Amino acid sequence: MNIILLGPPGAGKGTQARKLVDERGMIQLSTGDMLRDARSSGTEMGKRVAEVMDRGGLVTDEIVIGLIKEKLEGEQAGGFIFDGFPRTLAQADALAELLGNLDQKLDAVIEMRVDDTALVARITGRYTCGNCGEVYHDETRPTKVEGICDVCGSTNLKRRADDNEESLRTRLMEYYKKTSPLIGYFYAKGDLSVVDGLADIDVVAKSIKAVLDKA
Ligand code: AP5
Ligand code: ZN
Repeated sequence: MNIILLGPPGAGKGTQARKLVDERGMIQLSTGDMLRDARSSGTEMGKRVAEVMDRGGLVTDEIVIGLIKEKLEGEQAGGFIFDGFPRTLAQADALAELLGNLDQKLDAVIEMRVDDTALVARITGRYTCGNCGEVYHDETRPTKVEGICDVCGSTNLKRRADDNEESLRTRLMEYYKKTSPLIGYFYAKGDLSVVDGLADIDVVAKSIKAVLDKA
């Protein structure tokens, strides 16, 4: 089963994707994570990517589609969760073609709906484990022991450079301009399901499970 988690920055895509990996053994393909790896490589491409990400813009379709293509061709078994991809109509078309080439299809597109006020609070309170990638929040999901990751025990907890109000404004504008048209695109194909992303993390997980059980 291959699915897309679609939603604005802070909607909870990464949080839910990690649950699906743990519970169903699916493979999370987060273009945000891939791009963060590219930037930490220090190459010319990595430097260009860092500048775009920090101000909240979208990286070019060419770079992002190239990264996804490489991953898909390395893992032909399927069971993919696309997290943060596609973000433009060109990326959606490229994904359909890439999956088709592997004799795979898309089984569900889940739109996680959250209003903008909640997104600001989620993004400005987020921190992640630099070792295992677990996602936390100052208010809604703090670590059990302050400063130590619940999952792996690492003390390397960090905040993202683009998790500030100014970059978030640009990220939201990019979402509404370039990504939200995908809602209509997938609705027209009959693939779209909507879940209430404002609910508690476990309630959202149950709503997603209900969609997947029907897909
Ligand atoms: P990316 O890493 O994809 O970031 P994003 O889409 O902005 O999404 P986030 O990771 O911020 O949010 P999320 O929905 O995963 O929320 P999370 O689960 O962490 O992209 C970063 C940048 O890379 C982009 O701006 C762009 O520059 C570039 N990029 C990436 N993909 C690209 C592409 N395809 N094309 C072009 N450029 C691309 O949750 C957020 C917080 O809320 C956490 O603290 C969490 O604990 C908390 N939380 C989660 N769920 C709940 C809940 N139900 N209730 C309460 N709190 C919750
Ligand atoms: Zn950890």
